[in-house]
Amino acid sequence: MHAASTSGRSTAPSMRSLARLASKRHQWIVRHRTAAAATDLAAPAGPSAALDDGRSPLPDPASLQLGAPLRSQFPILEQTVNGRPLVYLDNAATSQKPRAVLRALSNCYEEYNSNVHRGVHALSARATQEYEDARAKVAALICASNSREVVITRNATEAINLVANTWGAQNLKPGDEIILSVAEHHANLVPWQLLAVRTGAVLRHVRLTPDRTQLDMDHFRSLLSPRTRLVSLVHVSNVLGCVLDAAYVAERARAVGARLLLDCCQSVPHSALDVGSLGADWIVASSHKFCGPSGVGFLWGKYEVLEQMGPWMGGGEMIQDVFLDHSTFAPPPARFEAGTPAIAEAIGMGAAAEWLQQLGMGRVHDYEQEIGTYLWERLTSLSPRITAYGPPPGDPRSGGRGRASLVAFNVEGLHATDVSTLLDHAGVAVRSGHHCAQPLHRELGVPASARASAYIYNTAAEVDAFVEALKETIQFFDDVHGA
Ligand SMILES: Cc1ncc(COP(=O)(O)O)c(C=O)c1O
Repeated sequence: MHAASTSGRSTAPSMRSLARLASKRHQWIVRHRTAAAATDLAAPAGPSAALDDGRSPLPDPASLQLGAPLRSQFPILEQTVNGRPLVYLDNAATSQKPRAVLRALSNCYEEYNSNVHRGVHALSARATQEYEDARAKVAALICASNSREVVITRNATEAINLVANTWGAQNLKPGDEIILSVAEHHANLVPWQLLAVRTGAVLRHVRLTPDRTQLDMDHFRSLLSPRTRLVSLVHVSNVLGCVLDAAYVAERARAVGARLLLDCCQSVPHSALDVGSLGADWIVASSHKFCGPSGVGFLWGKYEVLEQMGPWMGGGEMIQDVFLDHSTFAPPPARFEAGTPAIAEAIGMGAAAEWLQQLGMGRVHDYEQEIGTYLWERLTSLSPRITAYGPPPGDPRSGGRGRASLVAFNVEGLHATDVSTLLDHAGVAVRSGHHCAQPLHRELGVPASARASAYIYNTAAEVDAFVEALKETIQFFDDVHGA
């Protein structure tokens, strides 16, 4: 347990108080385990709990209601954790996978597993077709006009590193400026730091508004200059939940001749994106956050930009011709996909993209606005000791762009990790820590936060269960500290 305040100060409990704490915690857990028997939150066991036979037709996603009715498509949700029905609210870290994706993965290995792009036999032809179809499904999800604009990568992190090590290394010189923000995930900070060391480029960071809820667009504007070569910003913050005015940023970046990369890890899973109207030169995302497998993600880039980018990793598949002393390279996207890719995972990512698109990204967005608002309101009205970060739902300063269905928060006097540990004992999975956004947490003046993040299968009853468990957690610590 972390006996620390939200400012990170350790209160170093004595051995006797630790023993008392352990005993009280044990009683608390026993009480919750007993209570679990009475709860009706778990999805009813029934046909939905049966293992997929791999043959029965799966329901048309367009016919499925979001929330509770969707849960039968996610077998992992039908379980108890610590004797309580699982309440999975860690979707900003990774999402669960629907049957359609699980089936795509098992079909690949059971029916046509083979290497892609390099065999003429039937299995290889089928694997190649499915792999390229997956690329097209991802392109369709983000409304890309051409699937050749989609490069399949290991994750969003690799996609950003790809741009840094190709376009960045080839185009930046000492004194050129890259605009990032203090709210970036480390994946959109560290690659540019490494590149700045290599090239002499200078990093500039957009700060937060004075109320520290979102990026300060006045400050962004003031950072732009003819020296700005690249703007790379998070589209939807994984901590603040705020949504960037991408069209405005794109217009201003274009006005100074800078390229724009958007980190869309937290927007691709949750809203209908159209890369044509976003105005970015590149976007990146990770499959595991949008119902697909881990180990795969994508970079989308305007084709004329990708064409100007030289290779990064060398090896099989990314070449046209290889001689002993030099090689010529394949056009994009193959140029950036050296070696055997994550074939089944890419196919699973395609299945996820298709399933979400059929479910309807408009419906996904609307559902998340509802449950996200409910989550925010229930959480923030629980106790005045709770600080929730980012703009409140409906904040006029968000310009009608809404906020993500996640809330990062702290409870005064408690460490986020202690909070999430006790929530886990009640079957509630939330994340705690710095969420790979250490500079942002420094800006917020806290070492860490807890974060509850909802997705399409979460329900209001689960939000209630989370808030109830949080109430008991706070009570538990109050009892301990008051003892
Ligand atoms: C906003 C944002 N950017 C980038 C990433 C990195 O994603 P990955 O680790 O899948 O590459 C994450 C993951 O949490 C994220 O939330």
